Amino acid sequence: MKSRFYCLTLSLYLFVLAGYFTDSQRIDWTFTLPQYIEAPVNTTVEIPCTFTAPGDPGQYLLVWYKYGVSAHKPVYQRNLHTNYVNRTSIIRNGTDCSLRIKGVIRTAWYFPEISNRVFNLSNEKKPVMVNVTGCRNRTTCSDWSFTFPTTIKALRGSCVEIPCTLTHPANYTDSELFWFLRTPKTDREIFSNRTTFRINPRYDGRTSLVWKRRNSCTLRINDVKNGGEYYPGINRVINAYSLYGKFCTVNVEDFPPKPEITGAENLTESKAANITCAVNHTCRSSPPVLEWSIDNSQSNFHENLTKGNWRMFSGMEYVPSVKDHGRSLECKATFPNGQISAQYVTLFIEGPTQTLIITIIALSGIACLLLLILLVFLYKRKKMCQTPVSSEVGESPDRTYASLEKKEVAKDYDTLKFGVNGAATTGSGKQAPDYENVQKN
Ligand SMILES: *[C@@H]1O[C@H](CO)[C@@H](O)[C@H](O)[C@H]1NC(C)=O
Ligand SMILES: *[C@@H]1O[C@H](CO)[C@@H](O)[C@H](O)[C@H]1NC(C)=O
Ligand SMILES: *[C@@H]1O[C@H](CO)[C@@H](O)[C@H](O)[C@H]1NC(C)=O
Ligand SMILES: *[C@@H]1O[C@H](CO)[C@@H](O)[C@H](O)[C@H]1NC(C)=O
Ligand SMILES: *[C@@H]1O[C@H](CO)[C@@H](O)[C@H](O)[C@H]1NC(C)=O
Ligand SMILES: *[C@@H]1O[C@H](CO)[C@@H](O)[C@H](O)[C@H]1NC(C)=O
Ligand SMILES: *[C@@H]1O[C@H](CO)[C@@H](O)[C@H](O)[C@H]1NC(C)=O
Ligand SMILES: *[C@@H]1O[C@H](CO)[C@@H](O)[C@H](O)[C@H]1NC(C)=O
Ligand SMILES: *[C@@H]1O[C@H](CO)[C@@H](O)[C@H](O)[C@H]1NC(C)=O
Repeated sequence: MKSRFYCLTLSLYLFVLAGYFTDSQRIDWTFTLPQYIEAPVNTTVEIPCTFTAPGDPGQYLLVWYKYGVSAHKPVYQRNLHTNYVNRTSIIRNGTDCSLRIKGVIRTAWYFPEISNRVFNLSNEKKPVMVNVTGCRNRTTCSDWSFTFPTTIKALRGSCVEIPCTLTHPANYTDSELFWFLRTPKTDREIFSNRTTFRINPRYDGRTSLVWKRRNSCTLRINDVKNGGEYYPGINRVINAYSLYGKFCTVNVEDFPPKPEITGAENLTESKAANITCAVNHTCRSSPPVLEWSIDNSQSNFHENLTKGNWRMFSGMEYVPSVKDHGRSLECKATFPNGQISAQYVTLFIEGPTQTLIITIIALSGIACLLLLILLVFLYKRKKMCQTPVSSEVGESPDRTYASLEKKEVAKDYDTLKFGVNGAATTGSGKQAPDYENVQKN
C-alpha cells in the first residue's frame, strides 16, 4: 500500500517535470539492452545495459522493474519486492545501468527506468527476458556433464592442472564457473571465473582456468599446499558432485619423480645414438625443465599420458667418444617449485683401441693355450719312447741283486751247500753225488 502511494507521488512529480521538456531532448536519451538473456537456474545473471544522455546526465535515479501484467515490481532501488531483497545490484559506472540478480529461479522480464529532476525514460515497452534454463529437475540435469579425472598427483609447492570439460544444454550461453572444495561442513568455492568475493582466502590468487576454450573447465592450482577433493560446477545445484557425486582427489607428494634415461646402453665409438631423458608431471603449462650434463643440442617433446598426466622428454643425439668412457651422464629435472631430481648413467663406450686390446688378449690367450697343448703333447711323447731305458734303471736293484747272488753262489757254493746240507748227507746216500760235485768245484 505504502509503496504504491510512493510510486504514485513520484510518478506525478516526474510527470509534471517531464512536461517542461521537448521530444527532441527525449530522443537523445536511449537505452541499449539485449532482447533476452539466458541463465541456468540458481545462477547470478547480469543484464547488460547502457544508456546515452545528452551531455552529463547529472543526478539521476535508476530503477529496475520486474515486468508484471498488472503491475511492475521494483527489483532494484527502493521499495523492493521482498523476493529481491539483497539479491540485486547495479554496476555503478558512467552510463552503465547493468543489473545483476543473484540466484535466478524462474524466467522473467525486466526493464530499467531512469529519471532525474527533469526527465523520465522507461524501457517498459521492451523488457529484457531472462530465460532461466538448465537443470530444474533430474531430466534436464542430464544435459549437464563434467569430465575430469577422479584422482591426480601434485607436487607440493608446484602447480597442478586438473583437465576438465563440460557439456551443457543447447540453450545455455554464459554463466559463472566454479570449482568447489569438499569440506566436512559447507563446501567452499576455490575458484570462480566471474567473482572473487566468495573465494576461500586460502585459495585466492592461486587458482585459474587454463586453455580458455569454450566448454573447458580445466583448473590450475599454483603453489599446491594440501590435497583435497575438488569439483567443478556452475552453482551449488548444477555441479559434478550434486548431480553425479563426482570429484577429483588431489594427492600431494613431497618429492618429485626421478627422470629416466634410455638409449645409453650399447654405445660404440663414433656411432651416433639417441639418448632420451623423461619425467612425469601433472602441470601441463609449466613442465619440468630437463638438462643434460653434456652440452649437446637437445629436442624436447611432451607426451599426453591422459587424465592430467604428462611426460616431458628431452632427446639428445650423442656421438660416443672413448674419452667419455666411464664418465657419468646426468639428466636433471627442475620442477616449478624449484625442486630438482636427477638421474645418471655411467657411460660404457666400446672403442677401436679397446677392440684391439681385447683382440690381443684373446690372441695371446689362444697362443698360450696352443703352447701348453704342444708342451703336454711333447712330454707325453718323450715318456713313451724312453720306457725300456727307464725300466732298466728303475728295476735294476732287484735284478742286480739276483745276478750278484748267482755269482756269489758260485764262489761260496762249498761252504754254503756244506752248511745247509751237512745234516742231510749223513741220513741219505742220494746226496752223495751232490757233495762230490761240490767238492770237485
Ligand atoms: C515514466 O514514464 C512512463 C511513461 O513514459 C510512465 O509509465 C512511468 O510511470 C513514469 N515513471 C515515473 C517514475 O514517473
Ligand atoms: C540456490 O543456491 C543456493 C546457494 O548458492 C542454495 O542455498 C539454494 O538452495 C539454491 N536454490 C535452489 C532453488 O536450488
Ligand atoms: C568504468 O567504465 C570504464 C569504461 O567503460 C572502465 O574503463 C572502468 O574500468 C570502469 N570502472 C569500474 C570501476 O568498473
Ligand atoms: C528460452 O530461450 C530458448 C532459446 O531462445 C527458447 O527456445 C525457449 O522457448 C525459451 N524459454 C522460455 C520459457 O521462453
Ligand atoms: C522436468 O523439466 C522438463 C523441462 O522443463 C519438464 O518437461 C518435465 O515435465 C520436468 N519433469 C519433472 C518430473 O518435473
Ligand atoms: C566462465 O566459464 C564458463 C564455462 O567455460 C563460460 O561459459 C563463461 O563464459 C565464463 N564466464 C566468464 C565471465 O568468463
Ligand atoms: C635420432 O633421432 C633422430 C630424430 O628422431 C633421427 O633422425 C636419427 O636418425 C636418430 N639417430 C639414431 C642414431 O637413431
Ligand atoms: C610415468 O608414467 C608412465 C605412464 O603412466 C608410467 O608407466 C611410469 O611408471 C611413470 N614413471 C614414474 C617414474 O612414475
Ligand atoms: C590428452 O589425451 C586425452 C585422451 O586422449 C584427450 O582427451 C585430451 O584432450 C588430451 N589433452 C590434450 C591437451 O591434448
